[in-house]
Amino acid sequence: MTTKSVLLIIGGGIAAYKSLELIRDLSKRGIRSKAILTSAGAEFITPLSVGSLTGAKCYTALFNLTDEAEMGHIELSRSADLLVVAPATADLLAKPALGVANDLASTALLATDKPVLYAPAMNVRMWQHPAVQRNVATLKDDGALFVGPGEGDMACGEFGFGRMAEPSDIADAVEAHFAGRSDGRLNGRHIVVTAGPTHEPIDPVRYLANRSSGKQGYAIAASLARMGAQVTLISGPTELPSPAGVATVRIQTAREMMDATMKALPADAAVCCAAVADYRPEIETEHKIKKERGGLSSIALEENPDILNALSKLDVGRPKLVVGFAAETDDILCNANAKRKRKGCDWIVANDVSTGTGTMGGDNNTVTILSEAGEESWENMPKTQVAGRLASYIADELNKRSC
Ligand code: C5P
Repeated sequence: MTTKSVLLIIGGGIAAYKSLELIRDLSKRGIRSKAILTSAGAEFITPLSVGSLTGAKCYTALFNLTDEAEMGHIELSRSADLLVVAPATADLLAKPALGVANDLASTALLATDKPVLYAPAMNVRMWQHPAVQRNVATLKDDGALFVGPGEGDMACGEFGFGRMAEPSDIADAVEAHFAGRSDGRLNGRHIVVTAGPTHEPIDPVRYLANRSSGKQGYAIAASLARMGAQVTLISGPTELPSPAGVATVRIQTAREMMDATMKALPADAAVCCAAVADYRPEIETEHKIKKERGGLSSIALEENPDILNALSKLDVGRPKLVVGFAAETDDILCNANAKRKRKGCDWIVANDVSTGTGTMGGDNNTVTILSEAGEESWENMPKTQVAGRLASYIADELNKRSC
């Protein structure tokens, strides 16, 4: 395999120090990097540390005679297989979205003919600002890939979305991108994936939830995207960054998940991996329920809409292939098969989530795929591998059904 290379553009955010780790991680995976450090980025880390880790010159200025003589900025922007912008500040997202090129980084972003992967990093309110979201949407429409941002504590002391994806996650996204370039079996397909838990509010501070981490659903979305599918991932609250090349819609409740899923249609296939809460509190109180008044001794519940069931039974616009999951603790195959028939989905992926299996929240999974044609059990394997195999089965099935 030929060695792949990235041109890393390091913007001016506190997360710039993590880009040093990213260079090391990429190099361990056999991916070479060259870097452009913006002048704001150079306020956080130095060209010397970047150059020492890449083992190559660190580029900083657009109007530099020596650099232009050695390697012009246009050539630099096309010298790598992929451009990675990390941290992608609001400024570094805005310039290519608006077509502005007034320094080396923004010029490279407009001059390149290679794909670009952005790892945004900024304060939560900046990330949520409509202008930033508009720019992100524009870049996605232009074909850009995104990894993160994640949710968590920020250097500024606030909490929320805007934390740059961890270097290993960015490196995963880069590797996934390179791995997937050769497989276009799902090109032109739109697939909707639901993942994660849902949070069903009781009052402004409490909610009902479950132990789902979202790992399996996110891995499936990533695998499908690598195979060329356009993927809409409808995700409940998780700690995970959006997989590269996937449009992620974040929701909280089952009803929001239902709305977002229906809005995402039409789709060729739907994979319902989310651990949707079956019930929600009948009443969500506006004020925190006081324990002294005995208000929490019981909670009246009402049933949530069943997304898998609704999708499978759509009269118009039903995805050609609907895949459900059945997390069971006993009589697994029997329960899962009954569920497949009851809900009307084509396949159901059954797994054992009883205590001690480590499946819920863990990195591995042991699944059986049930369909009208029969059942197939897979050995215990990483969730990423389950995802890859399932995505491949989905590609085969869709291609079979379109002939
Ligand atoms: O009935 P149960 O929750 O075990 O069914 C699991 C399957 O149904 C999963 O695929 C899950 O994503 C889906 N489901 C759903 N909406 C619900 C409940 C479950 O889509 N309200």
